[in-house]
Amino acid sequence: MTFPSERPRRLRRTKALRDLVRETDLSPRELVVPFFVKEGIADFEAVPTMPGVFQHTLASLEEAAKEAFSCGIRAAILFGIPESKDAVGSEASNPNGIVQRAVSRLKDAFGEELVVICDLCLDEYTEHGHCGVIKADGNIDNDATLERYREIAVSQAAAGADIVAPSGMMDGQVSAVREALDSAGYSDVAIMAYSSKFASTLYGPFRDAAECAPRFGDRSSYQLDPANAREAMRESLLDEEEGADILMVKPASFYLDIVASVKQATTLPVAAYQVSGEYASLVFAAERGCFDLPSAMLESLLCIKRAGADVILTYFAVDAARALG
Ligand code: PBG
Repeated sequence: MTFPSERPRRLRRTKALRDLVRETDLSPRELVVPFFVKEGIADFEAVPTMPGVFQHTLASLEEAAKEAFSCGIRAAILFGIPESKDAVGSEASNPNGIVQRAVSRLKDAFGEELVVICDLCLDEYTEHGHCGVIKADGNIDNDATLERYREIAVSQAAAGADIVAPSGMMDGQVSAVREALDSAGYSDVAIMAYSSKFASTLYGPFRDAAECAPRFGDRSSYQLDPANAREAMRESLLDEEEGADILMVKPASFYLDIVASVKQATTLPVAAYQVSGEYASLVFAAERGCFDLPSAMLESLLCIKRAGADVILTYFAVDAARALG
């Protein structure tokens, strides 16, 4: 029998001891709440695959943002669902489009108190549901898509966005957006790059919420293969070089190794997106009696933070902020 002098359990004996040596804390200030805002609806609508998440009108968006703010949330990311879609996603850069109006509405209501982030992509705006412009042969036209991203970025900045978040995984998207913002006089607008965005099945419920499932094929010609950690690192470092201000890993929980390595490799803030399928899995499992939802929610977020995330985008933001008091 051995008697090691080191006995880690000594420090777990009482709550006060455990609190003293706790390495990771969660705070509402690092959470970002995603909101969906839909054009042409009279009242907000529930998303069946994401209990507690809604497609908002401009008015209900403002109410929801006020509720989030009152719980301590200080940042929101907006996804727009336009009334009309076309091949190039024209509505995404309409100065009077649904997201642009949503940004101005939140900026009027909150000013500098709330960080307003815009997802910058085409899939909610194109009739084919892809994140880019499609060539005659059915493939994505990377550089034509960058032209659209430039226009979208400028329209979102003009509406008052603090941060734009290019999520389409086109090559060169961060430098294209940075250059477009700078030359339009928006050098203060930051870029949160979806740098390591994997072609994940976990986006399923989001595609209901944002009405953006691709009509043909999938996104594996632009999003990362879930098998590839080194490639994720290459993408992240490229985005840093191109001028990203925040690097994001998405999804979060299946990809904590990526969160940890990106954190090691950069001095930029690292964000992780706990996506729709992660949210739905926890909510529906708890509904079936598998576990207590508030505990599972807080554990999931704590572990994403422990892996290295400085910022967490999560549909649990408001509930978590409430639970954290
Ligand atoms: C693309 C985008 C997607 C998500 C965020 N931005 C969908 C996709 O790539 O298919 C998914 C977020 C989630 O699942 O919660 N605009």
